[in-house]
Amino acid sequence: MREAPPGNSQDHGRGAAVRPMVLALGGSTRALSTSEAAVRLAAEGAAQAGADVHILAGRDLMLPIYDADNPDRAPEAERLITLTRQADGLIIVSPGYHGGPSGMVKNALDYFEDLRDDSGSPYLDGRAVGCVAVAHGWQAAVGTLHQLRQVVHALRGWPTPFGAVVNSSEVRLDDPSAAPAAVEQLHLVGQQVVEFARMRLAYREGSRT
Ligand SMILES: Cc1cc2nc3c(=O)[nH]c(=O)nc-3n(C[C@H](O)[C@H](O)[C@H](O)COP(=O)(O)O)c2cc1C
Repeated sequence: MREAPPGNSQDHGRGAAVRPMVLALGGSTRALSTSEAAVRLAAEGAAQAGADVHILAGRDLMLPIYDADNPDRAPEAERLITLTRQADGLIIVSPGYHGGPSGMVKNALDYFEDLRDDSGSPYLDGRAVGCVAVAHGWQAAVGTLHQLRQVVHALRGWPTPFGAVVNSSEVRLDDPSAAPAAVEQLHLVGQQVVEFARMRLAYREGSRT
């Protein structure tokens, strides 16, 4: 079966030489947001693994509440939808609010409903998605990570094997050199997104020949 590939990667059939496009999104509107720092560190891991990375963080995600009955989209929402459509993989980071993803991040994910009818790759089909949760305690962090992965499954995405949690009562990311273990884990999430994106692109290349 031939699939219309998502993404806009420069795939020249050279396997590992391909540069997947990764969209990293999330964070909060708070100054010195730990979850926004986590977005940037996971994105750094993807970039180090050879991806072209776009970041939508913090106030970039202050979008109108998703309105299923109104097809008009704010420019910021159009940007999210377009970049998601072009992405070979995603990184999603949410703060834990009352035990689950924040409303701002979940509202951004609601806009993926606009990808429902994309031919060949509806929603997040075929894309690896690295999930990260940041909360003031382990319970909310782990619970939020689990919920993010459920959302990704509902959207037909492929959560990476490794997902990261950051407990912001113990770890500050404004000085990454003080949190080497957290940085390593966030980098790993980004790296796994790129690794999977390359495998999918190679698979598609093989199925075309
Ligand atoms: C509305 C709201 C709800 C929150 N609920 C929880 C919670 O249930 N459990 C928890 O551990 N932390 C909770 N927190 C704390 C945040 O998860 C924590 O401050 C996290 O670092 C927020 O991300 P940020 O630093 O990117 O803003 C809450 C914070 C806010 C503003």
